Amino acid sequence: MSTQRFKRFYLDWRSLAEKTLATEVENPGGRKRYDGIALTGMGGSGIIGDVIHVLAFEFSDVPTVVVKDFSLPKYVKDGWLVLAISYSGNTKETLSTVYEALSRGCDVAGVSSGGKLAEIAREKGLTYLQVEGGRVPRASMPALLVGALRVLKAKGMDFPLPSPEGLAKLGNVGEAEALAENIVEGLAGRIPVFLSDVRHYPLAVRAKNEFNENAKIPAKVEVLPEWGHNDIVGWEKWLGPFTAIVLELGEGDKLMRFAADYLREVNVPVKELVMSDSMPYVDRVLWYSLVLGLASLKLAEIRGVDPGVTESISKYKAFLKSWSPALKES
Ligand code: F6R
Repeated sequence: MSTQRFKRFYLDWRSLAEKTLATEVENPGGRKRYDGIALTGMGGSGIIGDVIHVLAFEFSDVPTVVVKDFSLPKYVKDGWLVLAISYSGNTKETLSTVYEALSRGCDVAGVSSGGKLAEIAREKGLTYLQVEGGRVPRASMPALLVGALRVLKAKGMDFPLPSPEGLAKLGNVGEAEALAENIVEGLAGRIPVFLSDVRHYPLAVRAKNEFNENAKIPAKVEVLPEWGHNDIVGWEKWLGPFTAIVLELGEGDKLMRFAADYLREVNVPVKELVMSDSMPYVDRVLWYSLVLGLASLKLAEIRGVDPGVTESISKYKAFLKSWSPALKES
């Protein structure tokens, strides 16, 4: 598919989010209180768990854990909510956590566009939201995020949804394209390194994944303050074809500004993406995911690669069909 055609799956994010806000949550209701929440999912679906994990620092009274694996930690048991997110509904790692959670007596909920996860949810009467199908997972981010937040709300957990202003902002595609253009300028032939603070780690990972999958290039993520205790040294002597993209929160973000200044001092090309600090977190994550996603599409176009096809992920999934480390059907 040409980049122009594929791009349409990004340019309609506002209506995709709005549709998901109006979609019914099946079998709402849950316990009065959970001991914790496990967020399971991989890749473009799994990133939603990272976003909710960050939100939980502010909005959850119970611990959250993000699981991107075939099995759950031992402490996830009866009393826990396990929210499985899989766009296809057929991802082996995610389904494996669902079977395991059911066998341990956890309350299980799901978000998918269909697949086996939808089947299990309906058969077992789980809380579930079906998002619109016909896309690839990464281009469905607003649906997966809004869907997951709505399922958590239906389970009694008050996480914030995108604001009306945040939704309107997603409609400003011209502005998003202009910001994306700035990011991509001079990036061809280079390896981007996305640097962020802990709060914006999901955005940095999302950006890396977008450049991997859409533009077919490797990319790296570094998170402050940990970066200052190890990775910082790696730039002292040897330099490869890297460009640092520093995600900063407003002009006064001293921590991220330190990283940008340091990297310039040691001659690493640096781009600063100064994010609005007045936007609520969910709005900010959606908006800058759109901007960074469009940037990855622009690079795909420059490189002449098809952003919509991810052959090697299909190869990995085909391998998984013949390899099951912990798949327990209950
Ligand atoms: C993103 C993408 C992958 C998938 C991952 C899991 O666009 O294609 O990262 O998200 O392989 O698959 P799903 O999301 O269907 O559970």
